[in-house]
Amino acid sequence: MMRRKLVAGNWKMHGLKAALPEVAAIARAAAANPGVDVALCVPATLIASAAGVAGGMPVGGQDCHAAEQGAHTGCISAAMLAEAGAALTIVGHSERRADQGETDADVKGKAEAAHRHGLRAILCVGEMLDQRDAGQAEAVVTAQLAGSLPEGAAAEWLAIAYEPVWAIGTGRTPTAADVAAMHGAIRAKLGELLGAEAAAAMRVLYGGSVNGANAAALLGCADVDGALVGGASLTAEKFGPIVEAAAGL
Ligand code: PGA
Repeated sequence: MMRRKLVAGNWKMHGLKAALPEVAAIARAAAANPGVDVALCVPATLIASAAGVAGGMPVGGQDCHAAEQGAHTGCISAAMLAEAGAALTIVGHSERRADQGETDADVKGKAEAAHRHGLRAILCVGEMLDQRDAGQAEAVVTAQLAGSLPEGAAAEWLAIAYEPVWAIGTGRTPTAADVAAMHGAIRAKLGELLGAEAAAAMRVLYGGSVNGANAAALLGCADVDGALVGGASLTAEKFGPIVEAAAGL
């Protein structure tokens, strides 16, 4: 099964309109590497203006609410993201699981809402350092996956991102062997949950301290179909080499 690589940026709570030229520069890097899918997930306030300068590069959100609408002060629905020009959204990022107490069931509902409104979704899973040290990483991650996988999950609209929490923003990354083992475990679990064919088609991204120097090694691991990139996605200068590394594999 040939899966196209997907490199997605996650700007987190970074980005005012002054950053739009950077979005345009990242879009140019994406256009220069047509063999790779590139997307950029920006703050909700920037989606419409980013989509306006992104050319063909999909722009996404970083979260959506599971409900269609309602009394949820400060939250954003999938329909709102779509109307603003988003083509996708991240759901279940570990920072939201930790900061906002999102459960697997919440994340499942968010992914389903995204799909109802025609958005693709990147669903994040990942263990904490104490869980890895205790030898529980695969059990934790596969349980998160089972709990948060949306109904009707299919490669056409869903990708999984494995992001060890201890690797996010820390400059630390798992070994290539650990990455390959976890991605293999995730694909095996997807096979149990969705069947072999759907599991073989679904992209499983790695995220956590990906940069231009380590991207080729991380993206070259077995069962790694791309990257979800935080800090190194903020500028075209840093993000471009990651896209190029993916294109070269
Ligand atoms: P990082 O973040 O690349 O800055 O480690 C990755 C993420 O949180 O998606």
